[in-house]
Amino acid sequence: MQLPKGPQTPLFIQVLRWVFSPMSFMEECAQRYGDIFGIRLAKDVPPILFLSNPKDIQQILTNDTNQLEAPGEWNDLFKPLLGSYSVITLSGEEHQRQRQLLMPPIHGERMRGYGQVITDVTEKVINQYQIDQPFNIRSATQAITLRVIMQAVFGLHDSPRAKKLQHLLSELLEKGSSPLSVAFLYFPALQRDFGPINLWGEQMRLQQQVDELIYQEIQERQENPDSLRTDILSLLMDAKDAEGQSMTDVELRDELMTLLIAGHETTATALAWAMYWVHKVPAVKEKLLQELDNLGDNPDSNTIFKLPYLSAVCSETLRIYPVAMLTFARRVKTTISLGGYELPPGTPVIGSIYLTHQREDLYPQPKKFKPERFLEKQFSPYEYLPFGGGARRCLGLAFAQWEMKLALAKILSSYELELVNRREVRPKRRGLVTGPDHPIEMVIKGKRQIKPRSLERVGSAE
Ligand code: HEM
Repeated sequence: MQLPKGPQTPLFIQVLRWVFSPMSFMEECAQRYGDIFGIRLAKDVPPILFLSNPKDIQQILTNDTNQLEAPGEWNDLFKPLLGSYSVITLSGEEHQRQRQLLMPPIHGERMRGYGQVITDVTEKVINQYQIDQPFNIRSATQAITLRVIMQAVFGLHDSPRAKKLQHLLSELLEKGSSPLSVAFLYFPALQRDFGPINLWGEQMRLQQQVDELIYQEIQERQENPDSLRTDILSLLMDAKDAEGQSMTDVELRDELMTLLIAGHETTATALAWAMYWVHKVPAVKEKLLQELDNLGDNPDSNTIFKLPYLSAVCSETLRIYPVAMLTFARRVKTTISLGGYELPPGTPVIGSIYLTHQREDLYPQPKKFKPERFLEKQFSPYEYLPFGGGARRCLGLAFAQWEMKLALAKILSSYELELVNRREVRPKRRGLVTGPDHPIEMVIKGKRQIKPRSLERVGSAE
């Protein structure tokens, strides 16, 4: 049975290329081998097949539980950070049950209830920066998204323990963002102390401190139950499984950690990119400000959320440099034909979100930031998939979009900002996701006055 082609270099070289330059590695492979290719990333495991044709992606994402499965044990790279009871590392029915438990508090009315927190936190964070003093916009957006997710998870973000936890989490993620730290995950033999160059040990120590704070919070809640609390921790503590059992402390820790990490790191980067593009392409900024200004003072969150151009800017931001390069891996259960190949059971397949979003046939001039694409055409969920799809589709999809739009609208309508320089910023690996290859420096030039204007005079951003 012939399998899709891929690089023939030794395993070690393929892993290094994947760790240090994943996007150019995928682009080269797509150019050379086409819509499906295999990259070897582990010993004794067949090459992982990377897909970028929407038809193939549709097939793998809609056939979860039937011809394919989304095994949690294949997400082992996340285990050192998130543990074995995270929704990301669980499989089958347990995975489904956790998804159902976590979904309600970050959707619908509950999610919309965080509108005011998002706006207030955004204002507070941006107010900390002085006029004409350059700052890294990603640090600011991370401070915003971390506080917001802390509020959702614990119901507070400014107690001494919450502040300490935020500080430690930022440090932990910063340490884990280098390709070297990612190499530790791919080469478990490196996961030990190496004297003075002790990156892994340092990460583990930070993680222990984070865990201690989370366990303290759990314990305090157990000792002082409060039925009026509506935060995610209270909800998880009340939940019972089919046998009437509550979640153990370790299960609680893993799920809280998952939401804290998955729930802020990605949105922080997406917001930083949005700020970059809006200020990089003057026509986009002009058009967006006109749309926002026409809402007048204190528009309500639902109205902001529905703004067409703001939505298009957020969509294009997540298209051009998707924060998550890939969907989680799927495993073929019964022999399937996919993209002209017969794939035997056990074959790992993965959707390359990055490559799909860079397809010239779907997105002409894919390296150009053009929000108009999303006003002119409706893309299918397999052509445009920044949040993945199927059985493991992002649980925070709605939450992230809500937060992105409200925070962006707040910053842009309140302050006049500029990029410090015109240097091009490109994406690079940041831990297991992506981020800017160097700091996006911005300055606040002053407060903005809202100037309602006619939308008809707005030009195209092309
Ligand atoms: C711009 C922000 C975000 C992006 C781009 C993003 C992207 C993704 C992607 C691509 C996946 C994998 C989907 C798949 O395999 O099909 C995922 C999974 C997940 N995301 Fe997000 N995400 C974002 C924000 C969030 C937020 C705010 C939360 C929580 C509040 C969150 C929680 C999760 C969880 C728990 C999973 C695992 C789902 C599972 O295994 O069943 N994400 N995300």
